[in-house]
Amino acid sequence: MIPIAKPYLIEEDAQAAYDTILSGWITQGPKVQEFEEKFARYTGATYAVALSNCTTALHLAMIVAGIGQDDEVICPSMSYIATANSVRYVGAKPVFAEVNPATYNIDPVDAEKKITPKTKAILIVHQIGMPADIDAFKALCKKYTLQLIEDAACAVGSSYKGEQIGSHSELVCFSFHPRKVLSTGDGGMITTNREDYYKRLKLLRQHGMSVNDRVRHLSDKVVFEDHLELGYNYRMTDIQAAVGIKQLEKLNWIVEKRRQIAYLYHEAFKQMPWLRLPLEEEGYISNYQSYAIYLKKDCPISRNELMQKLLDAGIASRRGVMTAHRETAYLGYCKGLQLPVSEDASDRSIIIPLYVPMPEEEITYVIGHIKNMLSMAENENCNGSLTLLPENNQ
Ligand SMILES: Cc1ncc(COP(=O)(O)O)c(C=O)c1O
Repeated sequence: MIPIAKPYLIEEDAQAAYDTILSGWITQGPKVQEFEEKFARYTGATYAVALSNCTTALHLAMIVAGIGQDDEVICPSMSYIATANSVRYVGAKPVFAEVNPATYNIDPVDAEKKITPKTKAILIVHQIGMPADIDAFKALCKKYTLQLIEDAACAVGSSYKGEQIGSHSELVCFSFHPRKVLSTGDGGMITTNREDYYKRLKLLRQHGMSVNDRVRHLSDKVVFEDHLELGYNYRMTDIQAAVGIKQLEKLNWIVEKRRQIAYLYHEAFKQMPWLRLPLEEEGYISNYQSYAIYLKKDCPISRNELMQKLLDAGIASRRGVMTAHRETAYLGYCKGLQLPVSEDASDRSIIIPLYVPMPEEEITYVIGHIKNMLSMAENENCNGSLTLLPENNQ
């Protein structure tokens, strides 16, 4: 089976974890600090705070941005559900805006229409690694005095207008889950240029404790900590951070390799009239965390049928990015809400395998099968012998 994704973890990553396990310090400590410093330098942000995952990063971003009960946060529904959930964690309401169907990223024009006196923030997502139009959202946030928060869960190593994602705004949240381009097993990071946010994030991730374990441990004076506010245990371990440091050293190479595979897919599929391929506009550089193809209305095979045929041929695929407003956990929340662009983009797109190092034979096999299946379906349709499966919404 050709997998949909695989983290690029090698001997040196394992060795870093091994060494840390034997170092005597395994929870948040010197490796976390080193990873944060290196991550901040890599992204060009002033500060970075490591966390247990991106969901906890988004939760803390909401808190430091002062978002609370009954506030509204505009975000895309077409995203992994953690995006919208993070807004609900603080008692606020996610207000869903449509996406641009060509990039799957939140549409600034629709987002502006959703602003009300209750709106406190816009939470943009760099969907499957493609940067959103950060400048448009910065301008919108300035115009209406809103906080901009970036869900960059999938976008480590992507860049926008020549700068790494992580450097553009005050709260940028990353994920290091195995489906992401840099992985620590699970893990997350927030980058920020604001010292007040930085200090508060460090407090909040460790129970609101005034002195962290490491400082207390290294002190030659007895230290009594205070717990300054309601905090959480959202720490990253030193074992994860040690792996993260090694992953970061390879990140540019990994992104380059992913982009080469995306290029091969693009070249192979660009002549196929039924497909819409990822759009990378001038100044937008994607890490291709995922490669999604959209099946246009006249495509001779349905999305679900194509996925099944790929599976039969030993090729994993996934449905396109989900929409939160159609999930059971949101049905009561968004009664009757329809987002036709997001729903269509989600229902008609499919994510195909992309990982490093994906052997050339596998790339060729995936390309060959998709092309063949589309051509065969077209021929069969012309002969009137193919029964199309109905398009299943989810
Ligand atoms: C857009 C987006 N936001 C948030 C998350 C949550 O990340 P994590 O699994 O690190 O909590 C994900 C994970 O897939 C994601 O894709």
